[in-house]
Amino acid sequence: MILSCEVEGVGEPLVLVHGFPLDRSMWTPLVERLRERCRIFSVDLRGLGSSPLPEGEAGRMSTMEAMADDIVETLGAEGVGGAFALAGLSMGGYVALAMLERHRARFRAVVLLDTRTAPDTPEAAQRRLELAEAVDEAGSARMVADLMTPRLFGPDATRDQPGLVAEWDAKMAAAPPRGVAAAARGMSARPDRLQTLIDAQLPTLLVVGEHDVITPHDEMKGIAAAVPGASFVAIPRSGHMPPLEQPDLCAEAIRTFLDRLA
Ligand code: MLT
Repeated sequence: MILSCEVEGVGEPLVLVHGFPLDRSMWTPLVERLRERCRIFSVDLRGLGSSPLPEGEAGRMSTMEAMADDIVETLGAEGVGGAFALAGLSMGGYVALAMLERHRARFRAVVLLDTRTAPDTPEAAQRRLELAEAVDEAGSARMVADLMTPRLFGPDATRDQPGLVAEWDAKMAAAPPRGVAAAARGMSARPDRLQTLIDAQLPTLLVVGEHDVITPHDEMKGIAAAVPGASFVAIPRSGHMPPLEQPDLCAEAIRTFLDRLA
């Protein structure tokens, strides 16, 4: 499926993959900071933002694998035939790992932000499936925003940037409910992909907000320790969303990583 994709900037290709239940506009502050360095492709994953959801059964569950294939197809349509660097945040990281498994040759480097390689526990998977049913039934993602907003941002953004927090609460509540439910089901079915990341033998950067309560600092540090040669950057005064909470520091971490590859 071809996704809605915004293309900006000049230089080496950098693909940005958003988290749940968000859309590509979460990358706007980063795009502004990296557009002179990279040609940036930011996609809306299927069923989210302005990308469509397939009809029928395929629209019930957006697997990480299907989302990964969508990105490769979309980049093909945008004329990107070669290798690229890709950065994925949280669910975007799960999609990046599925892409690594299926399309390793397309990667030049990978940046994983505030994500994990481990699958859901059975209890977490069950909670996601129940949430998906409830969202479908309500025809609204409001309940997802109510769950996510207090956990998405760290204490600094919550105190100092109430406008940012309110903006994303409203965006999440207005997210397309069928797409949100399908993504939640897809996340519940993802396997462990630590070995995929190790076997990829790619330049790897792991970034985490030091106050992230969704994918904690220590878990990401553990991934960095398991992946030979991986770089690890903790972003101070940030929760789960460094690209929004600390865009300067987040862009700097990615720029420094890409500069080292050049
Ligand atoms: C995300 O930010 O994409 C989600 O928190 C991921 C998740 O729920 O596992």
